[in-house]
Amino acid sequence: MQSTVISPSILSANFAKLGEEVDNVLKAGADWVHFDVMDNHYVPNLTIGPMVCEALRKHGVTAPIDVHLMVEPVDRIIPDFASAGASLISFHPEASSHVHRTIQLIKSSGCKAGLVLNPATPLSVLDWVLEDLDMVLLMSVNPGFGGQSFIPSTLAKISAVRSMIDATGLPIRLEIDGGVKIDNIAEIAAAGADTFVAGSAIFNAPPYEDVISRMKEEVARVRG
Ligand code: DX5
Ligand code: ZN
Repeated sequence: MQSTVISPSILSANFAKLGEEVDNVLKAGADWVHFDVMDNHYVPNLTIGPMVCEALRKHGVTAPIDVHLMVEPVDRIIPDFASAGASLISFHPEASSHVHRTIQLIKSSGCKAGLVLNPATPLSVLDWVLEDLDMVLLMSVNPGFGGQSFIPSTLAKISAVRSMIDATGLPIRLEIDGGVKIDNIAEIAAAGADTFVAGSAIFNAPPYEDVISRMKEEVARVRG
C-alpha cells in the first residue's frame, strides 16, 4: 500500500506571498505541493507556469512539486517544467494527440508521470498505458476552478481504478482532486485513494496544521 500523501493545491493560496504560503503549508504537515497550471484554452482559467515553479525551488522548497497540467497542447511545456524542478507531471489525455508519447516524454525528462481523468472520462483511456504511469489522478470536479463540490460518482470510479492498479501489482499512486474536505476524505480513502489534493479546504481555513492533521486522522481511520 502506498503511503498517504496530502498535496495542498496552491490555487487557493495567497499568490501575493506564495513562497511563505508554501513554506507554511509544508511546515503544517503537507507532503507535496499541488501546482495547477491552467491556460485559458483547455480550461477557462489562467494561472501559473514554469517560472513560478522555478521560483519556488529557488526560494528553498524541497518537497515534491506535483504539477497538474490543464493545458493544450501538452508536450511543448513538459521540458520547461522538468528543468523548473517539477517532480511529477500529470496531464489530461484529451489535451494530448499522442498520450503514450507524452508519458514517455515526461519520464525521459526525469519526472514521474500521471494521467488525469475528468469526471466523464472513461477508464478505457488507462488501457495500454496504466503500467507506464506513476500515478492516476481522478478529477472529482470539472477542472478549472477551486472551491467546487465533490462529484459523488467519483467514489465508484476510485474503487474501479483501485482494482485496476492492484491487478498490475505496481506502486502506482491514486490521487483525487476537487472538493476534498475533512468530512469526505475518509470515504474517498475507503474507496481506494492514497493521495489527496485539497485547495480551499486548507488555504481558506487556517491554521493549516489543524486541517491537515484532521485530514490525516480521518484517512488513518480507514487506511491504518
Ligand atoms: C481544479 C484544480 C484543483 C483545485 C482543487 O481544476 O485542479 O487542484 O485547486 O480545489 P478544491 O480543493 O478547492 O476543490
Ligand atoms: Zn489540480
